[in-house]
Amino acid sequence: MALPDCAVVILAAGKGTRLKSPLAKVLHRAGGRTLIEHVVRACQPLKPRAIIAVVGHQAAEISAILKPLGVQTIVQEPQRGTGHAMQVARRALGGRVKYAIVLPGDAPLVRSETLAELARLHHQSAASATILSAEWAQPAGYGRIIRREDGTVQAIVEDAALTDDQRSINEINSSIYAFTLDKLWPCLARLRPDNAHRELYLTDGIALLRAQGDIVHALVAADADEVLGCNTRADLAAVDLAFRRRKRAELMAAGVGMLMPESILIDSDVAVGPDTLLEPGVQLLGKARIGAGCTIRTGSILSDVTIEDGVVVKPYCVISSSYLSADAQVGPFAHLRDAARLFEGARVGNFVEVKKSALGERVKAMHLSYLGNARIGSETNVGAGTITCNYDGANKNPTTIGRRVFIGSDTALVAPVKVGDGAYIAAGSTITENIPSDALAIARGRQVNKPGWAAARRREMGAVAKHTATRKPKRRVRPRARAHSRTRSLRVFRGKAAAAAKRARKPSRRR
Ligand code: UD1
Ligand code: CA
Repeated sequence: MALPDCAVVILAAGKGTRLKSPLAKVLHRAGGRTLIEHVVRACQPLKPRAIIAVVGHQAAEISAILKPLGVQTIVQEPQRGTGHAMQVARRALGGRVKYAIVLPGDAPLVRSETLAELARLHHQSAASATILSAEWAQPAGYGRIIRREDGTVQAIVEDAALTDDQRSINEINSSIYAFTLDKLWPCLARLRPDNAHRELYLTDGIALLRAQGDIVHALVAADADEVLGCNTRADLAAVDLAFRRRKRAELMAAGVGMLMPESILIDSDVAVGPDTLLEPGVQLLGKARIGAGCTIRTGSILSDVTIEDGVVVKPYCVISSSYLSADAQVGPFAHLRDAARLFEGARVGNFVEVKKSALGERVKAMHLSYLGNARIGSETNVGAGTITCNYDGANKNPTTIGRRVFIGSDTALVAPVKVGDGAYIAAGSTITENIPSDALAIARGRQVNKPGWAAARRREMGAVAKHTATRKPKRRVRPRARAHSRTRSLRVFRGKAAAAAKRARKPSRRR
């Protein structure tokens, strides 16, 4: 899809006042990506000579996103309208191309195929401008396409300037155009800010092209939703929804199974292999890569993970920035984060948190554990309630556990510490020293049994209870009104507290 002699210009200097956000409009996200990145990615397959973005609000942040995508930026300061933005773009374009595709940074749903069609049509016709339009049932807020009887375009009229007759026109301007630049430049020089916003409108350029005897065409988008702009929060939500729907449709066509697909949230950059099943309420975010034949069960949220084939993630797991090898199993209710690494067939069960730790092949950590900064050799069994005490208040320390180790339940491993291959740790141990291979480590208080102690205590408690039940209740003194004053109650309370403290200080004669 190479465009001959053509550049792309993206207008992205506006603030997006209607979003009521400190963030520039094109930095808002839909489908998990910034709006501007969607637009750039739609343009890239056209292989234009250059992609130039006109930036203004938060120019530095936007440029930082665009630079790795090979997009050149030019600053428009102050922002005096879309026509002015195009005048600024001229400086960056110089005379190097004959044509330009111009797009707003806030209409991210447009597809490469549609842009290619627009370019092809423009190229083949004698028009100096070709507008991408769309037919909408509710066109309010958008500029309208005014056609002549011969079907060519006479002008674009902004919503605020429409006459009553024009208001019923439902063909809108998408703000996506193909221009023949040597025809456009003289018209831009003639733009005047005679509108409510005192701006230079690119849309006024259409009537000026007409006035200099040029032809303007409009191509009606086959899918009207492709040109949705993100002017308001409601627009953003609608565009986000459209991206999610598009992504799910793409994945299902490629063999991904989904139950209640509308409840599943998948970012645009996510990849999922065929025959993987996604259950209701699953979220796959960021650059998540999921292999083939996996099952991601209900309510699990996976961001920036790499998951090989055949992995099962049971309900309600949160997994971020982690790598799971083939046939690993996780959950329900597990939390894996910050470079957790599960090797083949490793299993992590309920209420287990794994952070910056590697679990070797077929390691099992099935219940109630925290594993942080640990390396665990293959086939080791991590008992219920095992905790790596990795933080000493200042530093995170490593725990290294060998292969085929048996860690008894409720073991605390005080890092830094090493456990050799084949070692055995008794339940309830607090391990503070390294354990050699094949050794048994027991680190807990020795148990003492006192025969009959419990029965004797129960008898004693029974006697006390009987005594208090038979005692005469004390006569209650009706408090005088004064007794309710706050200062008096405080004094009484302090007096009692002082007496109690004194009693406590006195060594008991009975012991
Ligand atoms: C614009 C069109 C309108 C069309 C609609 C489609 C004009 C005057 N109107 O209106 O006909 O129906 O898009 O979405 O063009 N920008 C700059 N510099 C500026 C002003 C804007 O770079 O000085 C950028 C914005 O960041 C934005 C794009 O141009 O990405 C469009 O601007 P916006 O203010 O959103 O125009 P609309 O009112 O939507
Ligand atoms: Ca807009």
